[in-house]
Amino acid sequence: MANKKRLLTGLQPSGQLHIGNYFGALKPFLNLYAEYESFLMVVDYHALTSLKDPKALRQNIIDVVKDYLALGVDPSKAIFFKQSDVQEHTELAWILECQVSVPFLMQAHSYKDKVAKGLEANAGLFNYPMLMAADILLYDTDVVPVGQDQKQHIEYAREAAAKFNLAYGDTFKEPKESIQSGVAIVPGTDGEKMSKSYKNTIPLFGSSEEISKAVMSIVTDSSGERPEHVYAIHKLFRSEAELDVLYESNKGNYKALKGVLIEDIEKMIAPMREKRAAITDDEVKRVLVDGAEKARAIASAKMAEVREKIGVSLW
Ligand code: ADP
Ligand code: TRP
Repeated sequence: MANKKRLLTGLQPSGQLHIGNYFGALKPFLNLYAEYESFLMVVDYHALTSLKDPKALRQNIIDVVKDYLALGVDPSKAIFFKQSDVQEHTELAWILECQVSVPFLMQAHSYKDKVAKGLEANAGLFNYPMLMAADILLYDTDVVPVGQDQKQHIEYAREAAAKFNLAYGDTFKEPKESIQSGVAIVPGTDGEKMSKSYKNTIPLFGSSEEISKAVMSIVTDSSGERPEHVYAIHKLFRSEAELDVLYESNKGNYKALKGVLIEDIEKMIAPMREKRAAITDDEVKRVLVDGAEKARAIASAKMAEVREKIGVSLW
């Protein structure tokens, strides 16, 4: 592992994944992570900026770990852990907060967007980018795979690293984002971008009933032409050559076409759903305990160096 580059990403424990997440982010990530020395972190303290229900938070943490294990993340090929288990994250966040200015943090989209929507902006949300910078910088991360919306946060991490290095000498590596370019936006059941905020999703680990219901609700017009919204989702599961024959021979029969789409989605999801159902809470715990131990060893060494440099280590 020694000469592999380091990759780190944070997973929000924020509820049900959909097939848009899968094709847009998870599948590319699964193809990538084993090439690196990878860190996969459930960012529960970030979630606390918006989720104040302990029962839901606990469940969401367990769910997101099960999701990733079911998708095929191999805990022997990545350090899979929970942010709150490694106290150095919040400790370093404080130190980084002391390096950057309030106007700088006020430029963060995550903060500006919430304020613009009239949502409560707690101080945690305001400081969010420095906690994320700490997540990344603690591990001398080279690459951070994220969605386009997170690009600015990686710039913040680079800026925090540069400011610290300038003040105290070379300590942190400046990380680079890795953004999936050219990944098509998966449309939802209404033809708009599939998103949990639009309630137009097909859940990745949905039951057969949930999948059928979602597919049956895909909007079609009555022109008798190809049902474009159905076709656009179907393209993720079969080649266009195959689909063209299928759609031509079932012209106007939307119900039959949706039936084939349901079968195709089921073929992909059923094995993952079964795998997920077999993962116990104990297994999740084992993975996280083991991951936290490994992450802590790295993070605590880095923090010892940081404490020394800032002048709080006396002996
Ligand atoms: P949502 O829009 O449902 O809230 P998130 O913003 O949590 O999804 O996205 C998590 C990841 O999944 C991001 O990397 C994002 O780029 C990807 N993603 C989300 N929706 C889609 C979609 N419809 N098509 C392709 N990728 C998507
Ligand atoms: N802010 C990221 C998101 O909302 C999650 C996150 C927290 C993260 N810490 C991270 C992502 C470190 C990458 C690296 O998706």
